[in-house]
Parts: sequence; C-alpha cells; structure tokens
Amino acid sequence: MPAKIAVGVLGATGAVGQKFVKLLENHPWFELTEVAASDRSAGKPYKEATNWRQYSPIPNSIADKLVKPCEPNLECRVVFSGLDSSVAGEVEEQFARAGYIVVTNSKNHRMDEDVPLLIPEVNPEHLGMIETQRKQRDWKGAIVTNPNCATIGLVMPLAPIHRSFGATRLIVTTMQALSGAGYPGPSAIDLLGNVIPYIGGEEDKLETEPQKLLGKLEAGRFHPAEIRISSHTNRVFVEDGHLECVSIELAKKASPQEIAEVLSNFTSLPQELKLPSAPARPIIVSDERERPQPRFDRDAGAAMSAVVGRIRTCPVFDIRFVVLSHNTIRGAAGAAILNAELMKARGYLD
Ligand SMILES: NC(=O)c1ccc[n+]([C@@H]2O[C@H](COP(=O)([O-])OP(=O)(O)OC[C@H]3O[C@@H](n4cnc5c(N)ncnc54)[C@H](OP(=O)(O)O)[C@@H]3O)[C@@H](O)[C@H]2O)c1
Repeated sequence: MPAKIAVGVLGATGAVGQKFVKLLENHPWFELTEVAASDRSAGKPYKEATNWRQYSPIPNSIADKLVKPCEPNLECRVVFSGLDSSVAGEVEEQFARAGYIVVTNSKNHRMDEDVPLLIPEVNPEHLGMIETQRKQRDWKGAIVTNPNCATIGLVMPLAPIHRSFGATRLIVTTMQALSGAGYPGPSAIDLLGNVIPYIGGEEDKLETEPQKLLGKLEAGRFHPAEIRISSHTNRVFVEDGHLECVSIELAKKASPQEIAEVLSNFTSLPQELKLPSAPARPIIVSDERERPQPRFDRDAGAAMSAVVGRIRTCPVFDIRFVVLSHNTIRGAAGAAILNAELMKARGYLD
C-alpha cells in the first residue's frame, strides 16, 4: 500500500470544516494530520474548539488533536479550506505561495482568471490552468476552487444538457437549506413557518459561475460559455439539501425523454478513474411525480449524486425540471475532496 498523502483542514471547526473531518476519516488516499482555525480555537483540543454538529462522533484520531493557527507551517501537502470568506482569500494565497496545494470551498478565488473552478465530472481539463497560475504568481503551490453549493446542483445536469442541445438562457429558483448558512445560521424565530427570499451574494454566483464551468480553456485562458442566467435564491426551513427549479431555452429542441436519457447516461472522468468519492451515477433521474425531496433524496450516491425529477416541457422556454443536491457534501466538502482526488490521479500531488 502506498503511503497516504498528509492533508490539513483550514477552518476545521466550522460547518464545512466538520464535514471535511468526517469525510476524511478512513479516506483511502488522504490522512488528516492537521486541523486549523482562528485564534479563538488555536491551542485547544479539537473536541473543545468545535461545536460538533454531525450525527456520528468526532473521529478518535482527531478529537484530541490540537487546533493550530492558519499559518503555512502545517505538516501536510494539501490543505482543504472551509475558511470564512472574510479571511480565506489572503490565507489561501499564503499557503499556495509556501508550496501547499489549496483546495477550497470559499468564494474568494473562484472567478480569478488563473484559478480553476472545478467540478470533476464537468470540466476536469480546467486543471491545466495550474501551470499558468504557478508561472504568473511565481509559486510552487496552487489554488483550486469548487463552485458555490447551489451552482454545483445546477451545473451537474446543465452540463450534459448544454453539451447535447446547447443551453442559451435559463431561469433558476432555489430553495436552499439552513446548513448552507453555517452554524448557528439565521435565527430560528426568523425561519419557523417562513421563507427568506434573499441570500446575500448568492444570485450573482449562480449567474456567473456556470459560464466559467461550462466554458473552454484555450491558449491559457478561460472562455466563458454564452448562457444568460436569471436566478432567485430562497432560504427555506430544511436542514440539508438544496432544491432548484430550472427552466432552460435550448438551441436544439429536445423532448423530456431525450433530456432524461442524456442525464441518466451521463458519466465522466471521475467514474472512469474510479475516484474514491465519485458516485457511480453523477445524476439520478427520478420519474416519481413528487421527487426529488430533500429528506428522501439528499443522500443519493453517498450524497454526491444530483437527483433530477419532474422533467417536462416548458411553455415559456423549452424544458424544465427540479434538481436536488446535498449542499455541504456535493456542494462543499465532498466536492473539494473529489477535486483533490482528481488532482492526485492527474499527478498534481506528486
Ligand atoms: N455551509 C455550506 O453549505 C457551504 C457551502 C459551500 C461553501 N461554503 C463556504 O465555506 C466557508 C465556510 O463555511 P461554513 O458554513 O463552514 O462557516 P462557519 O461554520 O462559520 O466556519 C468558519 C470557519 O472559519 C474559521 N475562521 C473564522 N475567522 C477566522 C480567522 N480570522 N482566521 C482563521 N480562521 C477563521 C472559523 O474558526 P473558529 O471556529 O475558530 O472561529 C471556522 O472554522 C465559507 O467561505 C462559505 O461561504 C459553505
């Protein structure tokens, strides 16, 4: 057995950080050796620094580990970042400059011209931008980002549809889970029996990240896909799982059956490479009238599959459907771990 690659988590005490700690337990390729967070937590055993909100106990190997400050002297090759965006930008650059591979959830570097914004099933070739990034920034490390949690749910089905039929415009309306706001998140009294029709910054991410993900990398530059997107984002009283209603205009017309076939048959490089966190089926199509639903479908494919249902024609655009994905796993920690697995398989962690 080859030795496992040592990895650390920045922001390990937060909602996404805890998911990293949980998903990295018993990972076949990575060993969690370092947990880091703010000065409030540094120096304390992890079990005291974090308010653990997962349904399984803190892994024994991590519970008593001392939390370190987010300084680039950690004993690991890769750092996963679940840092608050107020600090993530600068801290992640310090680590990349010091030679670490930074695989992050935070928004700060997603739209940088030399930083891959990656969904391994959608645009694995965008990893090629790392060479340019290293040259331009004169560092040996690298920063690779995953999209916003709602963007991932939208783009998983949009990618095969766009590549088969050409999406030109779309409208997406989200119903986003509470865990997407971190812990403790908004006040319970604001949420109970209520829907909040605003999530700060979210609509902009949903309207700009998909074009980068679906665009081409040519001659060392990203060329965004030409799709116009209008989004409405809502916070709803659901623990985990973002539900999104999508209507798409297509350049080449397609029936609901053709769309269902393209989605059901979709597999990509992570499945071919059998990456440890890759679901066998990235998209599961449900033909039940009332699905997908967060409570029943968010854990599909170990919470790494997107579940699509209610595929039907749209009287305004061409096609419409509902998609569900797990926001803190496929939309955050699981996404970053899959990114790192692809990087290992492609030799970026050697
Ligand atoms: N929740 C989701 O579903 C989701 C999905 C996709 C992306 N994201 C992104 O992932 C990131 C983390 O989100 P979250 O929900 O996990 O937030 P969170 O629960 O508030 O956790 C934030 C983490 O950042 C650390 N931190 C805060 N200030 C710091 C500082 N000055 N120096 C070093 N560390 C500091 C915190 O450490 P202390 O505990 O020591 O304060 C904590 O570990 C955010 O950028 C968010 O936008 C979240």
